[in-house]
Amino acid sequence: MPLATMEIDFLKQLIAQRSGNVISSNQDYLLESRLLPVAKSAGLANVNALVAELRKHANGLLPERVAEAMTINETSFFRDMAPFEALRSNVIPYMLQARSASKSLNIWCGASSSGQEPYTIGMTLREYFNELGAWNVKIHATDLSEEMVKRTQDGTYSQFEVNRGLPAQMLLRHFERTGNSWRARPELRKMIDARRMNLTGPWPTTTQYDIVFLRNVMIYFDQPTKEQILKRIHKVLRPDGYLFLGGGETLITLNVPFTRETIGKTVCFRPVAV
Ligand SMILES: C[S@@+](CC[C@H](N)C(=O)[O-])C[C@H]1O[C@@H](n2cnc3c(N)ncnc32)[C@H](O)[C@@H]1O
Repeated sequence: MPLATMEIDFLKQLIAQRSGNVISSNQDYLLESRLLPVAKSAGLANVNALVAELRKHANGLLPERVAEAMTINETSFFRDMAPFEALRSNVIPYMLQARSASKSLNIWCGASSSGQEPYTIGMTLREYFNELGAWNVKIHATDLSEEMVKRTQDGTYSQFEVNRGLPAQMLLRHFERTGNSWRARPELRKMIDARRMNLTGPWPTTTQYDIVFLRNVMIYFDQPTKEQILKRIHKVLRPDGYLFLGGGETLITLNVPFTRETIGKTVCFRPVAV
């Protein structure tokens, strides 16, 4: 039976509560197609039955699975390129000087999907900054989706995925073949610490980050959620740190303590004191 308006509204509200993701009315059709597998895996006949079950049991894993199933996980290696050029040309050279005493660098890649973005950061560091070999460098990768986190931890990508953006020479240097796929070499994998984390939930971290990547996820949130998340990022980003958002994401209409800085063909954001 097609979903009734009340069922659609119920699901949208649950998804917004669980993940901050706003499902617009032209995406209603996705509820049915994306949630049917969730219903089936819970032993339910269809999405109507899933809604009935969720109404009875508001807690537990099922609402989480629903929210995760509605996320868009599109990503690729070296997506948009310019932020990684900025890392190479300005940001890491700055950090090499600014952190020369501690020799420690903490990078957070929030909403990292299946891991191509944190692996791209790792490869950029390994390709161009040999000296970081003697540093304590951590790339924290987080995502709402358990499945995406597992993929990042595993670091294995299909031929199709590596063909999207990863130059052949880099593929051969940083990945090894496993059957029809490619797996990140251990030295690259060990730079990445991947965990599940909901940007709209508690943030179990005491780390102060030097660089934060939070790209192509803010588009799914409403204005107050964006502001809340950015204010929380301000708290975990060092005063001279760098924040990268997605190419189409801007802070123009938001009341948040960051200022724009252009580096080459990209824009990044620096915290301002509050
Ligand atoms: C379009 S992908 C972006 C991936 C990568 N940052 C990039 O730019 O290529 C968006 C990711 O955000 C994640 N996401 C959505 N809502 C989230 C939330 N509330 N907390 C954490 N991650 C979330 C999704 O699971 C998805 O993997």
